[in-house]
Amino acid sequence: MDLMSSTSFVLNNGVEIPALGFGVFQSAPEETVAAVTTALEVGYRHVDTAAAYFNEKEVGEAIRRSGLARDEVFVETKVWISDYGYEQTLHAFDKSAQKLGVEQIDLLILHQALPGEFDLTLDAYRALEELLADGAVRAIGVSNFMPEHLTRLLAETSVVPAVNQIEVHPYFRQSELLARDAEHGILSQAWSPIGGITFYRDGSHGSTLQDTTIGEIAAAHGRTPAQVMLRWHLQQGRQVIPKSVTPSRIAENADVFGFELTGDQLAAIDALDTGVRGGPEPERITRETFGREIPEA
Ligand SMILES: NC(=O)c1ccc[n+]([C@@H]2O[C@H](COP(=O)([O-])OP(=O)(O)OC[C@H]3O[C@@H](n4cnc5c(N)ncnc54)[C@H](OP(=O)(O)O)[C@@H]3O)[C@@H](O)[C@H]2O)c1
Repeated sequence: MDLMSSTSFVLNNGVEIPALGFGVFQSAPEETVAAVTTALEVGYRHVDTAAAYFNEKEVGEAIRRSGLARDEVFVETKVWISDYGYEQTLHAFDKSAQKLGVEQIDLLILHQALPGEFDLTLDAYRALEELLADGAVRAIGVSNFMPEHLTRLLAETSVVPAVNQIEVHPYFRQSELLARDAEHGILSQAWSPIGGITFYRDGSHGSTLQDTTIGEIAAAHGRTPAQVMLRWHLQQGRQVIPKSVTPSRIAENADVFGFELTGDQLAAIDALDTGVRGGPEPERITRETFGREIPEA
């Protein structure tokens, strides 16, 4: 069964993206081919990778091996900060496209803003605009852009990003940022959608998987906590990209189109927000601390 056929979003430039994507952050290269193969078999049609995940080759290999036509799989990747700058970012496209083994990338996004070098960030984005105009990519966007970064980007560039891929899970909802994305017709893509970034955190708001409210809602529907969290995002209009290298979980996370949370259940999950970010503070990203060389293809 094609579990994905039921839902997709239309980006602000008219391009369609599946509502459910497959994440591969921290999937080791040797596990990635098998994980993406399983994902495509159970019906995912969107893979979210990044130059800085160092597994684009394996993602491409799994897509080719699947036998699916190129236009049946939506491929998203990200330019790392070490490749920012107009010419560098054009070249970053070549590196990623070659590693993925594709001519066209469906969605290419800037992985982070560089708040201390925003002009360089803008130059990188202008390269994405050029790639879009040339048809090398079908859509462009950003990731981890905070409201002030969006304001500046929108003021100084021409193409409104199609997506902003940001940390969103029940313990960190970023409601102000979600509203800003929506105001500009930018699709919010939730990274760590089931709270993966919280799993190893101490204290009462450690793992979202252990949360009693989420657990009760899951029990009421005969579903799992992960499925409930994914449903919460989808019903609130966010695209999701859960990651797993475990076949049973890959399938579980795709089986989220056959039930509906009530308004009260959505509100109960909204109320779990702690305001505590799991990932790095976007304002503190610099090339000095986070830079790493992205190898040639
Ligand atoms: N733009 C960014 O800066 C950024 C940052 C982080 C992530 N991302 C993207 O978002 C994707 C997802 O985020 P994430 O990997 O941080 O977190 P996540 O998808 O919320 O959680 C992944 C973790 O949950 C486990 N898991 C998956 N399904 C499960 C289930 N049904 N039940 C219990 N455990 C389950 C996985 O373990 P196993 O794999 O061992 O099964 C893994 O440890 C990434 O892969 C990446 O594509 C983007």
